[in-house]
Amino acid sequence: MINNLKYHIETYGCQMNVYDSELISGLLIKEGGVPTKDIEAADVVFLNTCSIREKAEETVFNRLNYLKSLKKKNPKMLLGLIGCMAQNLKNDLLESNPYVDIILGPDSYRRIPDIIRARESSSSHNVDTKLSKYEVYEDIFPSRNSGVNAWISISRGCDKFCTFCIVPFTRGRERSKSMDSIINEAKNAVKCGFVEITLLGQNVNSYRTSKGTFSDLLAQVANIKGLKRIRYTSPHPKDMDDELLKVMVKFDNICNSIHLPLQSGSDRILKRMNRTYNSSDFLALVHKIRRYIPSCSISTDIIVGFPGESNDDFLQTLKIVKEVQFDNAFMFKYSPRPGTKAVEYTDQISEELKQNRLEKLISLQKENSLRSNTHKIGKYFDVLIEKESKKSSNQWSGRTEGNTWVVFDKGSESIGDIVKIFIHDAKGVTLFGRHIQNKEVVA
Ligand code: SAH
Ligand code: SF4
Ligand code: F3S
Repeated sequence: MINNLKYHIETYGCQMNVYDSELISGLLIKEGGVPTKDIEAADVVFLNTCSIREKAEETVFNRLNYLKSLKKKNPKMLLGLIGCMAQNLKNDLLESNPYVDIILGPDSYRRIPDIIRARESSSSHNVDTKLSKYEVYEDIFPSRNSGVNAWISISRGCDKFCTFCIVPFTRGRERSKSMDSIINEAKNAVKCGFVEITLLGQNVNSYRTSKGTFSDLLAQVANIKGLKRIRYTSPHPKDMDDELLKVMVKFDNICNSIHLPLQSGSDRILKRMNRTYNSSDFLALVHKIRRYIPSCSISTDIIVGFPGESNDDFLQTLKIVKEVQFDNAFMFKYSPRPGTKAVEYTDQISEELKQNRLEKLISLQKENSLRSNTHKIGKYFDVLIEKESKKSSNQWSGRTEGNTWVVFDKGSESIGDIVKIFIHDAKGVTLFGRHIQNKEVVA
C-alpha cells in the first residue's frame, strides 16, 4: 500500500537530480504517499545519487553506512539507491551493500509505486537500470519544494561525450521534452506561486523538437504572464547561437546571466576533452555575448589536472580566466571516472599537482569575483527576494539577475517581490544594500 506511506528523499548532485526527486515525490503523493523530513520515521528512504566525481560517490557510500545501521533498527524500512550512481554501478552496489532494496537508474522512476506495492508480497531486490531513448516524464507533475524558483527539466541525457564525463553513460541519449508539456508545466508552476523558472538540461541549448529550438522555447516561456524571471543551465558553448542572444535581449524577464562552462584554456587539452571548441572560439563567444548584453554576468566550470595537462596548458587556463573575468567559477580537480575515455590516458597528473593548480586557480578567481562584486558598489540592482537572511531575521536575502546574493534590511516587502536595491558594500560573495523606494534620491 502506498496510501499514507511515509517517504524521505535525499538528493545529491546537480539540479537535474533535484528536479527528478520532485518528480518522484509527485508520483508518490499522487498515490497517497506522505513526505517526511524525519528519516527515522520513514517507511521508504531514497538516496538520489551523483557520479560526477569520485568524491560525490564517496559521500553516498558514507551515508550508506549510517543507513545500514538504521535498517538494522528498522528492518521494514525500504532503502532505494537511485540516480546516476545507481546507473553507473548497478549490481556492484548490491554486492557490496546487500541491504539496499531498490536500485533504479534515471529512466526507471515511473516504476517506483509498483515496486513499492510489489515489495509487500516479495522481498527480492529490485534492480532496473535500463536507459530509454524516449523517457522524458512528460505527463508527471513534480511536487516542488517551496521557494521562489521552480526547476523544469526540458531535456534529458547527453550526446556530447566529453572524454572526462560520466553523464552520457548515467543519463543516456539526449532527448527533448515537447514544447507543449514544458509550457504547461511552467504555467502550472506560476499558478502555484513560483515567480522564477530555471530550464534545465545537460545541454539546454541543444534542445530541439519539431516545434522549434531552444530559443523558440525560451521566448514562449518568457511570454507566460506573471513569470518574473527565467534562467537556464547549462548551455554548451558550441551550441550558443545569435537567436538565443536575441531572445535574451528581447525579453526583460530572461535574466542577463549565462553559465558557460570553459573546462580548460588550452587548445590541446580542449581537443583531448572533446569539447569541440578552442580558446579563441570561446573568447569570441564571450565578446559576442557582451556585445549583445553588456551587463551579462558570465560564470563557468573549469577542470584542472586533466590527463596530460602541462604547466603551460595550465597557464593558458589562468590566462583566459584573467582575460574573461568570469563573475563566478566552479573549479574542480580532474577525477578519473571508470568507463570514460580520459581514464585510459596514460599521462595522469599527480594529486599533489592537481591540488596545487586548483589552489592557484581558486585564488585568481577569488580576486576576479571580488573585483566583479566591488564594481557593483554604488549601483542599483533589481533583487528578487528569496528568503530571510541566515544571519538576521530583520534582513532579506535575494539575488540579482547575475546570480549574486544581496542582503538588506526588511521593510514591508514580501518573498517573491523584485525590489530596487542600492549596493553600499561587498564582502566575499555577498553584496549589502538598501531598498530604494520610488522617487527616493540617494545622497
Ligand atoms: N553539462 C554540463 C556539465 C555537467 S557536469 C556542461 O557540459 O557544461 C558539471 C561540471 O562538472 C562540468 O562542467 C565539469 O567542469 C565538471 N566535471 C565533469 N566531469 C568531471 C570529472 N571527471 N572530474 C572533474 N570535474 C568534472
Ligand atoms: Fe558531460 Fe560534456 Fe555532456 Fe556536459 S556536455 S554533460 S560535460 S559529456
Ligand atoms: Fe551528478 Fe548525474 Fe547530475 S552524475 S552532476 S547527478 S547528471
